[in-house]
This record gives sequence, structure tokens and C-alpha cells, in this order.
Amino acid sequence: MTERRPEPPLWEQLAAKSKLLPQGDRLQKVLARHGFGSRRVCEDLIAEGRVRVNGVVAELGRRVDVDTDRIEVDGAPVGVRPGLVHYLVNKPTGVVTTSSDTHGRPIIVDLVPPEPRVFAVGRLDVDTEGLILLTNDGDLANLVAHPSHGVDKEYLVEVEGGEVAGNRLARLRDGVELEDGVTAPAKVSQPEPGVLRITIHEGRNRQVRRMCDAIGHPVRRLVRVRIGPISDRTLRPGQWRELTLDELRALTEAVATEVRKYDRDR
Ligand code: URA
Repeated sequence: MTERRPEPPLWEQLAAKSKLLPQGDRLQKVLARHGFGSRRVCEDLIAEGRVRVNGVVAELGRRVDVDTDRIEVDGAPVGVRPGLVHYLVNKPTGVVTTSSDTHGRPIIVDLVPPEPRVFAVGRLDVDTEGLILLTNDGDLANLVAHPSHGVDKEYLVEVEGGEVAGNRLARLRDGVELEDGVTAPAKVSQPEPGVLRITIHEGRNRQVRRMCDAIGHPVRRLVRVRIGPISDRTLRPGQWRELTLDELRALTEAVATEVRKYDRDR
């Protein structure tokens, strides 16, 4: 015997026909579409009070307009607006991260599709290589690039002068005096003589280069290998790909954590 599927509730049947009744997609459907699990799992997220819409804890049955409502899971914004793109690009040397260049140098946005128009999140020097995000998601870009609560970034640095002595590594770790102030503590290791792995949270202009200059080991080659939770050893210079949903979620969660820390410490 085949089971009869229950009819949807009457108000839902009406809602489908009427512009006067609630419009938009059900929240659990939107969350499921964005990789938070099955609709059932997403209903549980809502029931547990972990989902907010426009800052207010959402109730089961809530409908959302993905164009205008701001949705968060555990405080992390969900990139639900259609049309948003997030590219991870491996920038080669010689390419500038501004959207135009008066010297006619190649620009980073020319490495990705022309539509929709995107911009770089933060900057890398023209002679720096490695990972950079391009997006049209202004909210996320502002948060990720913000020096006070942006995510940490990891660099592989080949320096001049061979092996760096322990006391100089300690200076990099503790903070070095630059003309715009002492740098915040950094994570620094030397995987091989003359090659440093440096993780910083700040994003001052030419920061890693100036830090290495300050300890007497100018940078020969600088490659950014990680942005918060995002890394990719397979992306070749000049190549790009879209962030996966998991990466986007991890990035927004990392940013949300930093924003919470920032707000708490103020
Ligand atoms: N630090 C630098 O010195 N340059 C970069 O491009 C990024 C970090």
C-alpha cells in the first residue's frame, strides 16, 4: 500500500498563491542550499536558537528574502545573496592588486572572469606572490581586510643573508620597531636556513618586508600561503578557483570569531 503524502498546511497553500501572505524561502531550505546539512538538520539549527535573521533569533517557519535579510549561523554571516562570488587567486609577481594601474602593469582582476565585477580583499605588493581573495561581497571583504579583526595570514619568506640567528627570530616573534610602531607578536619558524614561515594578524603596508629589513635580512621572495582557514598548494601562479562553501563558511566563522574578540576587548 502506498502512503498518501500529507497535504501542506492550508496557509502554505495559500501563501503560494497570494502576494499578501509571507513570501520568500523557508529559512531551513535556504540554509540547506548553502551546505548546512539536510533540511532536518537545518530545522534543528533553527530550533536550537543558533540562527539569527537581521540580528534576531529565528523561529521555525521563518521565511527569508535572500536579497535583503541578513542571516547568521552561530554568529557567522551566511553568504546567501545570489550573485556573490568569492575567488581564490594565486597572484604571480608583477601583477598589481589595484583595479587599475597608471603604469600599464597587469592587474589582478584580469585573471578572473570580467562579470560580475570583483575587487581584491586587502593587498599584496606587486613583487609578492600567493593567495589573495577577489570578491563582490563588500561586507565580507571589509571584515577580512580589517586590521583589527581580520584573520591571520601566513607567508613563506626567502631572505638574504642565509640562516637567521635565534635572537633575530625572537625579535620578529616579539615585535620589531618599525617607523609606524612596534609590530604585534608574530608566529615565526625557520623550516630551512634562510627560509622563514611568518604568520601575522596585522596588515600594514609592506609589513613582512619591513620586519625582515629591520632584523638585517631583506626579503628575496615573499609568498602568501594562507589566509585564515584558506590555503591551496595546488593552485599555480595565475590560476584561480571559487571558494567552496565549506571554505566560505570557515572564513566567515573565523572572521566572526575575531569580530567577537575585538568587540569583547574594547
Ligand atoms: N607583507 C609585505 O611586506 N608585502 C605583502 O605583499 C604582504 C605582506
